[in-house]
Amino acid sequence: MALWGGRFTQAAQESAFALSRSVHFDWRLAPYDLRSSIAHLAVLNKSSLIQAKDADSILGALKELAREVVDGSFLPIDSDEDVHSALERGLTEKIGAVGGALRAGRSRNDQVTTDLRLFAIDHMLEVAALITKLQTSILDKASEYINDPAPGFTHIQHAQPISFGHELAKHAHAFARDLDRISDWHARAAISSLGAGALSGSSLPLDPVFTASNLGFTSTFANSIDAVSDRDYVAEALFICAMVGVHLSRIGEEWTLWSSTEFAWARVADAYSTGSSIMPQKKNPDMAELARGKTGRLVGNLMALLTTLKALPFAYNRDLQEDKEPLFDSIDTLLLVLPAVTGMVATTEFDREKMALDAPAGFSLATEVADYLAKKLVPFSQAHEAAGRCVALCESTGRQLHQLTDAEFLGVHPHLDGGVRTSLTVHGAINSRTTAGGTAPTLVAAQIKNAQQSNTQTMEKIASMQRLFSEMMST
Ligand code: ARG
Repeated sequence: MALWGGRFTQAAQESAFALSRSVHFDWRLAPYDLRSSIAHLAVLNKSSLIQAKDADSILGALKELAREVVDGSFLPIDSDEDVHSALERGLTEKIGAVGGALRAGRSRNDQVTTDLRLFAIDHMLEVAALITKLQTSILDKASEYINDPAPGFTHIQHAQPISFGHELAKHAHAFARDLDRISDWHARAAISSLGAGALSGSSLPLDPVFTASNLGFTSTFANSIDAVSDRDYVAEALFICAMVGVHLSRIGEEWTLWSSTEFAWARVADAYSTGSSIMPQKKNPDMAELARGKTGRLVGNLMALLTTLKALPFAYNRDLQEDKEPLFDSIDTLLLVLPAVTGMVATTEFDREKMALDAPAGFSLATEVADYLAKKLVPFSQAHEAAGRCVALCESTGRQLHQLTDAEFLGVHPHLDGGVRTSLTVHGAINSRTTAGGTAPTLVAAQIKNAQQSNTQTMEKIASMQRLFSEMMST
């Protein structure tokens, strides 16, 4: 059903209708559209812009439609242009022309962005809840390996030994920032656009503040032209999704690398691996690879929307219909990837012996030699140079740093005595990293405990926001 046509003498060409039609993807806005219609109806009723008996029958029909949308008994048909026109058809099929009264003081321009804000809030909260579950599994896994040394890397070269619990826990901190971003974003997303009309507001005595609070928004728009044109909240949500994707991709890359025969650190559970159709021995870390690979579309969706918005004239333009599919796709992607990565992390076992064996390789204790001299107040540039010469000596004679003789140490630098050997152990090096946030296991245990506490608090906060949202939706 078309929501316009009075001034037209021709029906839309098939190709034109096909291009403008969005109901095949925007139908998922239906529950939010019905709920925002209920809020609009309330304001029309409150301002006596509708007869009380008509308001009652519209409300009854909207609620009935909401049930039918959920159980699938009301669906869009070929001639429906978008979710709004499909639902208005549903309404008039139930109660006749009086259903059209709901259009007073509202345009699809303020309606569609209100619906999309509700959709985005609902789904970003779902994404946030899944991120907290992933954090839980990362932190639980990290706490199993606090006392297990492993090589830490820069440039994928052995750098300094670290607690493997520290290595795993770092991911939870990246996701904590994503959760902060969602919380900051929520403040800008939870703004109602209803009452902005097509672009200039309304001559009817509407009450945008009332509508906003009816829908659980924290405030209403300040400028009606901006209200119908603003899609920053979509772009920001897409950025957050892309950032989450980037963080997931870094887990994916590590799991792929660590489960290789060359590393042989990670044993990914069979339930999160796949086989090869030709090579019977293969067990591939496909979940990790997909976590990495899906990032492409998450970044792409952000770019797509920013490109649509760039230099777009004000106020509403049909270009804005292109805001939905990227958002839907990014959210669907994360709803798919997050649980799989959470399960993969929770069920992966690491080879403690292999990691411990690898920890000192590549002269990863060379910094200890330099720090030993620095503690004797040798300028660090000289200390660094001396440690480098020790490494060169070891390399040319096929030995490890602790195997150099006292005479050789002293030959490298007059302050470098045999006492340095006490620092040349993996555990000694790790235990000595006691600056805040460092890798000493006692600190790592405290870091993980703090992160677990804030994880629990964030979970509770998200659950209460979700409860409020679903209460609002069911009124
Ligand atoms: N389906 C449209 C969209 O997604 C609804 C708004 C249409 N408004 C208009 N003035 N044609 O943006």
